[in-house]
Amino acid sequence: ARILVLLSGNGSNLQAILDESAAGHLAGDVVGVIANRSDAYGLERAGSASIPTKVLEHTLFASREDYDESLAGLIDTFEPDIIVLAGFMRILTADLVRRYQGKMINIHPSLLPKYTGLNTHRRAIEAGDKEHGCSVHFVTEELDGGPVILQAKVPIFEDDDEQSVQQRVQEQEHRIFPLTVHWIATGRAKLIDGVANLDGKPL
Ligand code: GRF
Repeated sequence: ARILVLLSGNGSNLQAILDESAAGHLAGDVVGVIANRSDAYGLERAGSASIPTKVLEHTLFASREDYDESLAGLIDTFEPDIIVLAGFMRILTADLVRRYQGKMINIHPSLLPKYTGLNTHRRAIEAGDKEHGCSVHFVTEELDGGPVILQAKVPIFEDDDEQSVQQRVQEQEHRIFPLTVHWIATGRAKLIDGVANLDGKPL
């Protein structure tokens, strides 16, 4: 499968996918990386792995619709089978999401449906949660609301802070995100009539 990664920042999840691919654990290749910011460190990670990169800066567009139209054109030049949102900090228009329905996945740092949106670690700590984690889901028009494919849980301890929790969650992100990409690449995970399926059974 042809895997395209979209990101805005550090790209540690991109790195995890590249590492699993290099280890022969992924039924696909990362064919490109698109960032909406030229200073995204993930672009350097891609460069080190000789992966083609493109930057499409949202600040140069007058509207979200204009940006997403350009983005769709750029995405299509890579002819991807799977589009991976790995810390791509943009809300996508309904048109863009519909165009890639079933092909686009996102990782979110919470146990969805809990804590959609930002600052998930702080919110989980402040709520006194003992359990937290991350979720990989198909992207649909509802922000962070698409069908979940795989989640990983971590504990929250008394003496944790936002940073220690984030680190614990990210270790799990780096396990479940490449695995989910592999499941989609091999056809194990699919979106069917709006429902995530694994091995032919609805999740
Ligand atoms: C991750 O925490 C992910 O859950 C969120 O954005 C962050 C991206 O991290 N969607 P990185 O750029 O992959 O290191």
